[in-house]
Amino acid sequence: MYTDTLNISYFRKDAAFDTLYPLHIRELSQLHWTGLGVALEASNFLASPGARVLDIGSGVGKFCIAAGVYHPETSFYGIEQRKELYGYAETAKAQVGVQNVFFRHGNLTNLDYDEYDHFYFYNSFYENIEPGSRIDHAVRTSYELYNTYTFHILEMLDSKPAGTKLVTYHAPDKQVPAGYKLMDNSFSKYLKMWVKK
Ligand SMILES: C[S@@+](CC[C@H](N)C(=O)[O-])C[C@H]1O[C@@H](n2cnc3c(N)ncnc32)[C@H](O)[C@@H]1O
Repeated sequence: MYTDTLNISYFRKDAAFDTLYPLHIRELSQLHWTGLGVALEASNFLASPGARVLDIGSGVGKFCIAAGVYHPETSFYGIEQRKELYGYAETAKAQVGVQNVFFRHGNLTNLDYDEYDHFYFYNSFYENIEPGSRIDHAVRTSYELYNTYTFHILEMLDSKPAGTKLVTYHAPDKQVPAGYKLMDNSFSKYLKMWVKK
């Protein structure tokens, strides 16, 4: 972790980090945003000097910002469909002062995945099939979208070269292509580390 230009007071515990966000966003934290302990373990697996890691559905940027602070030699990218959440991610990034983190507002179906080496996936499509877990009503949700996004990511991961790393969190194994081997797990098997063979 680098400390000279960073505001690391946010990294003592999740509640401290979540003060970067307004109250209605903090209230969503436990269910929807990656905790610091998970971000540390996931990024320890994904990071390497010069690597480009994408968070597929980056929300308010908690995973990327924490991972970026823990691993300054790796670049962390986030794509987020909700403009409001993207805005909070940019504000939090500036507040922390982390330089190796980059957010984009848009839909993950419009990305050029050649720009990324490794991936983090926190079951981002679940709200399409479980209305009780909706973040808000800013975007349309449906079973059809769940299938479209799941298939898109499966195909993308499948097309990646051997050595591509993936971390899934609270995600069903059927969202991981068969070519990926489970290397490790943590947090009662909710966090899984995979490598393409
Ligand atoms: C469970 S949250 C996780 C946020 C972040 N990865 C973290 O761990 O803190 C999943 C996010 O994925 C976003 N998302 C879902 N489908 C998306 C899509 N098709 N394109 C871009 N973002 C998407 C949602 O809006 C939501 O903010």
